[in-house]
Amino acid sequence: MRKQIVAGNWKMNMNLQEGIQLAKSINDYFCEKPAKKAEVILCTPFIHLSGVAPILKADKLSLGAQNCASEVSGAYTGEVSADMIKSTGAQYVILGHSERRSYYHEDNALLNKKTVIALKSGLKVIFCCGEVKEERESGKHFDVVKKQLEEGLLNLPVGDMKNIVIAYEPVWAIGTGLTASPEQAQEIHKFIRTLVEKHYGKTVAEEMTILYGGSCKPSNANEIFSKPDVDGGLIGGAALKKEDFTAIVEAF
Ligand code: PGA
Repeated sequence: MRKQIVAGNWKMNMNLQEGIQLAKSINDYFCEKPAKKAEVILCTPFIHLSGVAPILKADKLSLGAQNCASEVSGAYTGEVSADMIKSTGAQYVILGHSERRSYYHEDNALLNKKTVIALKSGLKVIFCCGEVKEERESGKHFDVVKKQLEEGLLNLPVGDMKNIVIAYEPVWAIGTGLTASPEQAQEIHKFIRTLVEKHYGKTVAEEMTILYGGSCKPSNANEIFSKPDVDGGLIGGAALKKEDFTAIVEAF
């Protein structure tokens, strides 16, 4: 059985005290009412990691970052390395989020390099892909996602795949209130799983966790997560409210 995951992407929200408060309330919730199926991951800003790590005591509650440097260490002012992230107690890092791809011009080659470094540090990688609105409307979304995955991820050794989670996030659905329909999500998740199978075989493909992201909320999570190739979600806005986030986790 492949792992089901609900990961909250806090993006650049909340100061340290607010972040710790939210992490505490989420931890308390899951200590009392353990998540039944899914592993729950909080992906916080770098600054919050070492403060949040010791708070997370609930079963199946993990910590992640939202980015890491493309170099191992050295004179890279302002950067944060994968080793540093790992040393806080975090287990995951999100790479290739569309906001990193578009605002910070991170391309597939750079993301490939970051992924290799993150895995070497012992982090698991949540690798994001997804098309913009025009690409969806012109029917290019399969090609776009294929290229992002083949150039960024699917050239790594097969042994690395157990430490990879793929997140499909249509850019037109991120923070817009629009969601892919459950059928659209299923269609492209299946396409992604078939692509993984082509590169690594059936067993790896069957075990790959593929998350959906983009305006996921308590009211639509259940329907999307019920699709056979959707193994959970990467949650932005709704991850900032304990009630919404925990309700999404319970949607399984
Ligand atoms: P959203 O963001 O849930 O606010 O649409 C999802 C994401 O960017 O991971």
